[in-house]
Amino acid sequence: MNPRFYFATCQVGAEKAVKSEVLAEFPHVRFAFSRPGFITFKEEDDRQPLIKHTQGIFTRLWGTNIGQAKDEASLVKLMAEIPEGSVVHAFERDTFVPGDDPEAFQPNARINALVQKLKAEHPAFQKFQWNAKPKDKTFVYDLIWIDDFHVQLGKHVHADYIDPAPGNQPVIALPANSPSRAYLKIEEAIHRFKPEIRPGMQVLEVGCSPGGASTAMLSRGMKVTGVDPKRMHESVYKNPNFTSIQRMAKDVSEADLNSVNPEWIVMDMNIAPLEAIDELAHVIRCLKKNLGRSLSLRLGLLTIKLNDWKFAESIPLYMKRLEEIGFHNMVAIHLGSNRQEYFVYADFA
Ligand SMILES: C[S@@+](CC[C@H](N)C(=O)[O-])C[C@H]1O[C@@H](n2cnc3c(N)ncnc32)[C@H](O)[C@@H]1O
Repeated sequence: MNPRFYFATCQVGAEKAVKSEVLAEFPHVRFAFSRPGFITFKEEDDRQPLIKHTQGIFTRLWGTNIGQAKDEASLVKLMAEIPEGSVVHAFERDTFVPGDDPEAFQPNARINALVQKLKAEHPAFQKFQWNAKPKDKTFVYDLIWIDDFHVQLGKHVHADYIDPAPGNQPVIALPANSPSRAYLKIEEAIHRFKPEIRPGMQVLEVGCSPGGASTAMLSRGMKVTGVDPKRMHESVYKNPNFTSIQRMAKDVSEADLNSVNPEWIVMDMNIAPLEAIDELAHVIRCLKKNLGRSLSLRLGLLTIKLNDWKFAESIPLYMKRLEEIGFHNMVAIHLGSNRQEYFVYADFA
């Protein structure tokens, strides 16, 4: 058997974290090649079963490499291996940290142009299901633009926790009225995890200024109480469903939370992870003192800032602390809209 090559996609800057998590989970693979947002690994021991999925947080998409092409003719030859009717996802490796892309940047413009050309010139390519929604447990072929001209062909097994959009990267638009990009994080989490949302449902948001996430939740009819020493964007204050507690989370008192019984707690503070978790614990303690068994809290949507990428090594410690506070069934993920941080979606009891 030939040793397999695998690929992992991730955000620009997360490559080292991906290497560490992959090598820790699969000691029989070795790092092979890397570009920002794209890494390959080679199997050292080819008697091991196919790795279909990883437990990794920073690995956005994991699959088997089929081959690479550095000109169009070799790409056409490579793609002849794809069975007719297959789902083929075409996407580009990340080239910018989310939010740092220039205004004129069009994600996937180069690969989309290439696909149009290939379809026009090769009728066989019209028979693929381009960028279609895959069925669970079926193969998806991934045509990944690495550089001009360097295209990688791979395949992965679709699963329900992978978004059906190419590259496991759902496209969510940032509305003009959002005061910040944090809107995208909450919308992406809602899109991926599909929590129940009812109009009038209460949310407590810790670290809410200038108000992107609040704007997303308010526009879904939720009632948001926001904690932050900084002011919100004026548009948020105008919404009657928003209440402000303008202080640091650690200074919030039981009296401040008197009329708050949230079903969700959302956290996004730009302070060190353990400090943020301690301040979150303080807020939850206040809620518990006020409400006892009547506390409705059942979900946490938590952004943990990694002020330094090396903090990624301490994620097990952060998860343990969150568990001690009462979070469980925790899913840790690097959202496409996250930057140097990660996101935890967790039940609360
Ligand atoms: C990334 S921003 C939050 C973005 C916000 N969620 C939004 O949707 O626009 C981080 C925020 O954490 C706040 N913050 C920092 N330390 C805090 C603390 N100890 N308690 C509450 N908020 C804090 C900052 O003032 C800042 O507004």
